Amino acid sequence: MKIQILEFSKIQDPRGNLTFLQKGAPVPFKIQRVFWTYDVPGGESRGGHAYESQHEIIVALSGAFDVVTMDSEGNKTKFHLNRSYFGLYLPPKTWRHMENFSTNALSLHLSSEKYSEADYIRNVNSI
Ligand code: TYD
Repeated sequence: MKIQILEFSKIQDPRGNLTFLQKGAPVPFKIQRVFWTYDVPGGESRGGHAYESQHEIIVALSGAFDVVTMDSEGNKTKFHLNRSYFGLYLPPKTWRHMENFSTNALSLHLSSEKYSEADYIRNVNSI
């Protein structure tokens, strides 16, 4: 599956909306790890690497930020995430960094693998 925005179910309710993820579509992998990034100071960027075998989905649970991706063919795209019912799917070997975080931005990451430093690709020429 290529880099793409996934739309999650949204249960609209006058008491507040609800979105959920569970095993199966639209998550194209078994979730093995969840982490989140928060309290990002203005002007900072995160990421700046790819993964060898890890699939990931990034969700702006709160606030907004941009994810700049580059696939193994060198195609660059900038995705602006600002809704908690959209997720950005990134296959392995996708170079990415996140920037332009709003105040109180909360980025949720769903990963197909447990944390492994050995899975990181830190040289942009190696993807
Ligand atoms: P890193 O993935 O480099 O952050 P980012 O890509 O968002 O800039 O991780 C930063 C540090 O946190 C690094 O020392 C490894 C550690 N870390 C874990 O221990 N477990 C994890 O699941 C993650 C994502 C990072």
